[in-house]
This record gives sequence, structure tokens and C-alpha cells, in this order.
Amino acid sequence: GELMNLQFTAAVDGSSVLCQITSATPIHSPTLCFSMMAPVRVMDGGTLTHSLAGYAEVALPDLQPDRPHSLRLAHVDPHFRPYNRAWLPSGAYLRSGGQCIALPLLHQGVDPGQFAATPTNGFDGLRLVPQPTEWTPAGGSLPAAAFACDHPAFRRAGALAERLGLAPLLDAGAVRVTVTPDAGLPAEGYRLVLTPQGITLFFGDEDGAFWGAVTLLSLRETHDGHLPCGTITDAPRFGWRGQHLDCARHYFAPDTIRRLLDLMALFKLNRFHWHFADDEAFRLQVDCAPVLWQKTAFRGEGEAIPGVFGGGIRSGGSYSKTDATALIDHAARNGIAILPEIEVPAHAYAINAVLPDLTDPDDPRPETSIQGYPCNILNPAMPQSWNLLQALAVEVADLFPIGIVHLGGDELPPAAWDASPRASALKDREGLHSRDDLQGWTMSKLAGLLEERGIRSAAWEEAAKGAQGGIGHSALLFSWTGQKPGFDAARAGYDVVMCPAQNVYLDMAHTDATGDWGAAWAAFVGLKDTVAWSPVPDEAQDIAHRIVGVQGCFWSEFTTEDHQVEPMIAPRILGVASKAWDKTDRVDGPALQALALAYAPVFDRIGWARNPWA
Ligand code: ACM
Repeated sequence: GELMNLQFTAAVDGSSVLCQITSATPIHSPTLCFSMMAPVRVMDGGTLTHSLAGYAEVALPDLQPDRPHSLRLAHVDPHFRPYNRAWLPSGAYLRSGGQCIALPLLHQGVDPGQFAATPTNGFDGLRLVPQPTEWTPAGGSLPAAAFACDHPAFRRAGALAERLGLAPLLDAGAVRVTVTPDAGLPAEGYRLVLTPQGITLFFGDEDGAFWGAVTLLSLRETHDGHLPCGTITDAPRFGWRGQHLDCARHYFAPDTIRRLLDLMALFKLNRFHWHFADDEAFRLQVDCAPVLWQKTAFRGEGEAIPGVFGGGIRSGGSYSKTDATALIDHAARNGIAILPEIEVPAHAYAINAVLPDLTDPDDPRPETSIQGYPCNILNPAMPQSWNLLQALAVEVADLFPIGIVHLGGDELPPAAWDASPRASALKDREGLHSRDDLQGWTMSKLAGLLEERGIRSAAWEEAAKGAQGGIGHSALLFSWTGQKPGFDAARAGYDVVMCPAQNVYLDMAHTDATGDWGAAWAAFVGLKDTVAWSPVPDEAQDIAHRIVGVQGCFWSEFTTEDHQVEPMIAPRILGVASKAWDKTDRVDGPALQALALAYAPVFDRIGWARNPWA
């Protein structure tokens, strides 16, 4: 029909975004639908007619054939200038006369051509990430294209190599590996003795044997099949070595998640934090409330959730329990446990959109979230909220063998529940004074319900807030705005996983270049920044035993294609793994850059795109 031969361009122009639409045919009274990172303001060229968070509909004048129409956009919040291509309009489409047509923008994602590799000297030592606890070289090397070993750990590592597309790891005629238990080694620990005559692997437990096999796989790749002789004695600094993936803002196919689980194993990461619920969708196919995923898995034109965060005309998906179980099994073969997150009470716009009973009908002014969503929190004064929360938490806990459910608890809007008469009555009844108190009470009650069933709770750092001590119940907290909230939580008795956004939020752009891609609110996170911190700095020695992990996070607000995650994860996952495993902070920026150079061919061999600038 008339919506053919359309061109749409957009470019960062100072603090605004300049767009042009050109049509070969006349179009009467079109509406441009698209999203940006945050709520949008139209400076000129159209009229904003509808918006939700960063999603916008803009009425345009009639388009004349081959006459470009210009549109200038900005974010409502002047602090958010469009830093790079991730901040351009995403998922754009034109609606006219009941018809919709997609307006894809070219050049999405990191463009490796933008960046020249940073020159760096080679790494002077064992080319292994994470670095082992001890490496004692004995001189000489051992040619090893494959290994002869029928221990289950080697079968698992061999399967990993095969899935990654690397050369076969096992060959009955190759260098023999003798595998021997050693009760003196710690959890996940191993010792490898490499001599010209062969290899001995001592292990503390099954995971240790697997990590030892993964080390041999890695060294084969980074040392061109000539393993240096000597002794590696190794064990992790932290039991929680995580990588998070936001599968709510963008639906990642299970195969993509499996690939990430394989990459994680190569770097000895052992926890996958699966964020499948947020304002935009609840993607796990739970039985207790099928409407949650049936009505939110796909967003776009005519759906309950419009095309926020690049949703476009229609996109999305949900995860069946069969999908989840297959991922759990895949992860387990890699020594990885999956932590599910249900994300309440805030970041719940999607839940409220399809289950309206969870907010107070007498609340006259639903608060707005930091991302611009109205009404994105469940109200703990509504009995229906508890019916859902309990059923959801228990059903998710039952599905995932890890025995922990991450409840969420981050970014409660500043005015949460303030105007809800029912919430006010609940606060009076329970002696609560602030919204933080009420969130703490809510999280604590939910954690208590789980604890009765033997399930531990986890939550973001904000769950420690509240005069009554927050979530309590030995919850595991994730410190994300920096490390200080984690130190405070640890001093209040919580176990803490460190995921400071300034260092390990892998959705942050690597650089300030407009040709780069990624968020910027925390920092630009270059490869060196991923190791420019200590999980347990001097000032935190008193609570060192409470800092139990390090985790990288990837949020998908601006992801529209699965593959875009790759050059955000790589090579920065090397820094995450170094901080999570290495008992020391000796791998600094230059060392990590040198190690990244050694791993570049490995990423290339497994077909994982990396940001060469980093
Ligand atoms: C978060 O980044 N809101 C946990």
C-alpha cells in the first residue's frame, strides 16, 4: 500500500536526536511510534500524542513524496543526553490508516569497525583467565592438541568444547590425564601438574575436577596447543561468581542463554541470574497466574504493553517450564546454578497491567518510576497482592533447584504508596513510617513465607532499607549502585554479592564515542574498569566474610537482537571472572588488556563477537 519505500534515519546531534523520514509516496496523517532510553520530548517536527516510559507516539504532518520530514527529539530529563547509538529511536514504526510498517534504523549495536584495537604487550605468564591462585613454572612445554581421559569432568569439558565449536578435547591417543581426588583441596579447588610425560589433575570435589579440565581446555586455546610445564594450584575466591541477563526488556532465545552459559563456564563463573520479569514483561510460564505471561510476553501495537525499549510493532516471547528445566540442566552440566528473579514490588508495571487488583483503587495518584512508568508497584495492603506473591514465589522456588529466589526490591519510586489509603492504614497498623519501611516489611514477610519452606531469599541492595531492618531472613543482597550499600548491608548482617554498576554493568557503553553502543548512567566501562576495584577493599576487611561473590550484569533496555549482547559481554567478562575467582587483585588494567589479547582468537574461534576497542 502507501507505506512503502520509507526511509528513516536518526543521529545524535548535541543534546538531541535529529530524525528524518522520507517516503516515496504521499502519506496522510501518519503517527511515528518508537522508543528511546527514557521519556521523550518532541522539540519540533511533530506532536507527542501518547507516551509510556520511553515509548512515544508522535503525530506527523502529511508526508509529501520524496520530501524528507525532520523531527527533533530529546529526553524529558536533561541529564540524559543521547550518548551513542543505543540512545537513538528504537523499534520505530509508522502507523497510518490502520496500517503499520517498521522503520528499521541501520547500524544497531557496537560496530567493531569504529574502534582500533589498543596496542598492548603480550601477557608475561600463564595466559589464563581467571588467573590461578598459584602457578609454578617448571620450564619446557607439553604439546597437547587433545587429552586422553575418561573422567566425567573431562567428558563435561569435552562437551563444552564441542558446543563452543572448539577442536575436540578428548582423544584416546592423546596426552594422558590422570585424575585423582585430594581431600586436602577446598571446594571447587584443583591442582594440575603438567610434565613432559603427562598431566595429573588432583581435585577437591566434582566442580574442582571440572574447573581443572576447563583450565586445560583454556590453556590449549591460549598457548597454541603447547602447554607450559609446571604446577597450577587453584581455588576460587568466591562461591558466587555470577552473570546476570535481563530477559524481560529483551526476550533472549533459550539457545542464546545456553551460549552464555557455555561462555560463563569457560571463565569458571557458576551462577546465572535470570531476570525474566520487569516492567515490560513477565516471561516465565507460571501456572499460578498464566495471564502474566500470556498477556505480557509480547509487546507492541495493540498489546497490553506498547513497544517500549525497542519493542516495535510486535516482539517478545516467554519461557516454558520445559525451557527452564532444559536451561537448568544445561547450566548444571557447566557447574552453574540458575537464580530466578521475580522482581517485586516495584518494576512490576507488566504485572499491574494485566492484574489490576494489586493496586489500591482509592490511590488517586499512582507514582511514577525512575524509568517513567506510572503504577509499577504492587500494593502490599491488597490481599490479592499476597495471593499472587506467595503463589509466584513458591512456584518459582519449586522449579529451580538452587533453593534461592531473588525477589527484586530495587528502585522503589520516590512516592511509592504515599497516596494509598490502604497502604497508610497498613503502615499505621504495623508501626511503619516511610515507604522504605513498608517495602522492608513487604520483602521480609515474603522472605519469611519462603523461609518456612526452606527457601532463601535474595534481593537488590535496597531491600536492606527500612527501620525494621529490611528483608532480613538471611537474605542474599546484591550491591549494584556501588559497593558502599553492600558494605552497609554486610555490617547489618547480610551476605552480599558485589555487582557495582561502575565496574561490572556490562550494558554500560565501553567508551564515550557516539559510535559506541550502550547505557551511560553509571559510567563508561572500559575493559580496564572491570578490574579497577576490589570486592573487599581495605575499608571492608571487618566484613570480608560477608562478601560472598561478584557478579556481572547485563540489562537489555536497548537490545533488540540477541547477538547485540556479545560485544558487550566480551571481552569485559574477563574482568568479571578475574574479580570473582582470583584471590588477589593483581590483574590490573594493562594485565587484563594483555590477557584479552590472548583470548581474542578464542572469542573469534567460538564465534563470539567482541569489542576490539576494549
Ligand atoms: C538495578 O540495576 N536496578 C538493579
